[in-house]
Amino acid sequence: MHLRRLWLTDFRGYHEADVTFAPGLTAVVGPNGQGKTNLLEAVGYLATLGSFRGAPNDALIRAGADRAIVRAEGEREGRQLLLEAEISANGRNRAQLNRQPLRRARDLLGALRVTAFSPDDLTLVKGSPGDRRGYLDETLVALHPKHDQLRSDLDRILRQRGALLKQSGGRLNAEVELTLDVFDAKLTTAGEALARARQELVVDLEPILGTAYDRVARTSAEVRAIYQPPWLADGLAAALLAARKDDLRRGVSTVGPHRDELELVLSGLPARTHASQGEQRSLALALRLAAHEVVTRRTDTPPVLLLDDVFSELDPERSAALLDSLPEGQTVLSTASALPEGAVPGTVLRVREGVVTEG
Ligand SMILES: Nc1ncnc2c1ncn2[C@@H]1O[C@H](COP(=O)(O)OP(=O)(O)OP(=O)(O)O)[C@@H](O)[C@H]1O
Ligand SMILES: [Mg+2]
Repeated sequence: MHLRRLWLTDFRGYHEADVTFAPGLTAVVGPNGQGKTNLLEAVGYLATLGSFRGAPNDALIRAGADRAIVRAEGEREGRQLLLEAEISANGRNRAQLNRQPLRRARDLLGALRVTAFSPDDLTLVKGSPGDRRGYLDETLVALHPKHDQLRSDLDRILRQRGALLKQSGGRLNAEVELTLDVFDAKLTTAGEALARARQELVVDLEPILGTAYDRVARTSAEVRAIYQPPWLADGLAAALLAARKDDLRRGVSTVGPHRDELELVLSGLPARTHASQGEQRSLALALRLAAHEVVTRRTDTPPVLLLDDVFSELDPERSAALLDSLPEGQTVLSTASALPEGAVPGTVLRVREGVVTEG
């Protein structure tokens, strides 16, 4: 979907805002702390119903207000779309599509897709395995909203299983065993489905990641992305059974897709522990650009690319190279510094104290 216009009410520092985007590149500029990231975050919210900064929904509502509204108008395959989401302090969030209230806010997923990059994404390389699993799962949700259901089913089963393990106090009686059998069957179905989806995704991502990295870092390096859950060969059912005693003793589920790692290897060395700061930044951006390309290819439409503060991550030469090779489709980028030379955005939005002006 191509975004044309965005309206905000009481979102973050914005009281009211009405913003128009270019079909190609929109640059959001202004000094620190004025609301640039907030604007990108609002677009991201309509796509994922969450904050790409990982902020809780409450933080998105303007201090003192009791709800925030994000509305956007756009076009997909020649058809007009109007998306609206309301974020409430009481947690009851609502959404509308073309003025029709949706039964669940989550039904909005899939209407708009975004790829968001922010400086926090360094955690994709430096952070814990959970950060990298999150990256894969978000990309899967962008590919198909059914993965959101799968992910929440899995979370629920793991919570129930964890509660049972703790309650049992490490003792295995017939009742605990019976309940674990039921949970493990469910965990196996959902867990194997998610792991297979992640694995297929990584197979698609790996070669694109290499190209994207070379483009961003202006080098030629071998990048490998490996997702090989240790349990996949014999199946999750067998692995859960083998780990049962250990799980009971420790009171946690020690095996499954919630423990898996996506290994990133740069020029033969683990990127998390060996890559330089600059290499890690380039790799983080390349991960987002690669996901963007996979989603574009598989869905036939490029997501809206949100690049928050991207030039603070790159030197001038790499910034210019990135601008030269932006993927097709719409890009919204924010920057507190000057735009690199040669940048010709279709629209420049200036943000100051929560007020956006064009030009
Ligand atoms: N819920 C909220 N209510 C009111 N103000 C908020 C809320 N959340 C954030 N803000 C304010 O929004 C302001 C702008 O934040 P934002 O992160 O968009 O700035 P920015 O322009 O991206 O700055 P930088 O260049 O430093 O990244 C901050 O000063 C913050 O205090
Ligand atoms: Mg910012």
